Amino acid sequence: MAEIQGKVSVSEAKRNLRAQPCTLVIFGGSGDLASRKLIPAVYNLLLDGALPPDYAVIGVGRHQMSDTEFHASLREGIVKHSRQPLREDRWKEFTSRLFYLAGEFDDAGTFQELKARLEKIERQLILPGHRIFYLAIPPTSIASTSQGLHQAGLVQPANNSAPFSRVIVEKPIGRDLASAQQINSTLSKVFDESQIFRIDHYLGKETVQNLLVLRFANGIFEPLWNHKYIDHVQITVCEEEGVGTRAAYYEEAGALRDMVQNHILQLLCLVAMEPPWSLDPDVVRNTRLEVLRSLRPITGADVNTYTVRAQYSPAVIKGVEVPGYRREQRVRPDSTTETFVALKVFVDNWRWAGVPFYLRTGKRMPKRTTEIAVQFRHIPQILFNADLASPLEPNLLALRIQPEEGFSFRIISKLPGSKVQIHPVNMDFQYGTAYGAASPEAYERLLLDVMAGDATLFMRRDAVEASWEWVTGILEGWQKHGTKWLPEYSAGSWGPVEADRLIEEEQRRWRMP
Ligand code: BG6
Repeated sequence: MAEIQGKVSVSEAKRNLRAQPCTLVIFGGSGDLASRKLIPAVYNLLLDGALPPDYAVIGVGRHQMSDTEFHASLREGIVKHSRQPLREDRWKEFTSRLFYLAGEFDDAGTFQELKARLEKIERQLILPGHRIFYLAIPPTSIASTSQGLHQAGLVQPANNSAPFSRVIVEKPIGRDLASAQQINSTLSKVFDESQIFRIDHYLGKETVQNLLVLRFANGIFEPLWNHKYIDHVQITVCEEEGVGTRAAYYEEAGALRDMVQNHILQLLCLVAMEPPWSLDPDVVRNTRLEVLRSLRPITGADVNTYTVRAQYSPAVIKGVEVPGYRREQRVRPDSTTETFVALKVFVDNWRWAGVPFYLRTGKRMPKRTTEIAVQFRHIPQILFNADLASPLEPNLLALRIQPEEGFSFRIISKLPGSKVQIHPVNMDFQYGTAYGAASPEAYERLLLDVMAGDATLFMRRDAVEASWEWVTGILEGWQKHGTKWLPEYSAGSWGPVEADRLIEEEQRRWRMP
């Protein structure tokens, strides 16, 4: 393990932010996200001693369940999905602050009951009444839930001395610009923008956060981080899994809405943004927003030049037959929903003029991997690079987001020996081995940030709408100018040949991360 040298510093802006004692109310408490991500996140924060000692969690869901049944269902989720194993000696303590309320989200009675329950729990556990409402529910329920909270008097105004009320909103926030604007307007009738935390869990991933530190806490990258030295950037988010049990949602979404509009565009923002002048949440969010506003629109027939979409077709993977997308359960046999998308994108500002950003994401690819690769320009074709038939590989900085976290830097070096033989080598940094501990899950970090009131890693309304505006241009282009039948790629492969052509026409290649 590498020794951590020198002092560990905490940025000035973050020094005073502390998670406050509070009650977390999860709408969608009996759902998939709560059991796979949210409750395990609270559990791990408890084991790590990161939670404020005074807290409570109330799940609100449609299923009828007692508190005890709720605990039993969550136990399964923790055994399967928690970063740290279930500890019997802490289980009782954990469940003593975990409650459940059954109810419909469009029934005023649910919110009256919630109010009574909250007041009772907060009295018993001596909590200050700070409340976080987590909307892990479909977008169609957001209006009734926020109205219900408001009418029951559960939302305190922002910036007063009363206990705080904050709301966390899960994706999808809309399916195009108009629907995103509608959801945002609905929320803004009840909550002030400063109370709204729109979550994009990619921003909570450890290596994603490290990207800013890497760029702005080291002197060597920033002078090179522009069109003069960078040839292109590739952002790859591959998933090994197919659509699984989420076909009903995915059919209406597809890869562009599901992964690009939010996660991948946010990664792009972090790579491309200017240095913010402080770490104040709104300063950082303004600089990310500028990238979204600089994206060159892809509209009309341009979609056929700059985008490729495809669907996975059946294949045998490791001896197992895997159905094609159109044969998955609850998928229409004539579905035209894309399970893969690749794009060539330009950020039209001074820094990035002419530098293509190649983005790709897909389900049923060879492995789960997320990587940002920054490829530097070729060196002149002289000296060690004089052989025109086999030019040297250019320098490349690969930031691995998952599953392994770390980065590697490809440099050209001499092979040991009396002859001058040169070869690319990778200088590798792995988080796990360097720091010897598994990174916290994204949801752990993000929940703590909401408890502390730090919105840096959350999406502001203008950013959500700016990214939807850009994505909606592509969606409309596909509708008008796209082909009816999508290209296919075999399940378990790296995508369709059309995606290779998108990048190869300029003598570049996708990396095999
Ligand atoms: C979600 C998408 O936002 O992110 C899923 O809706 C996708 O389709 C998931 O599988 C990927 O997240 P992660 O953290 O596993 O890369």
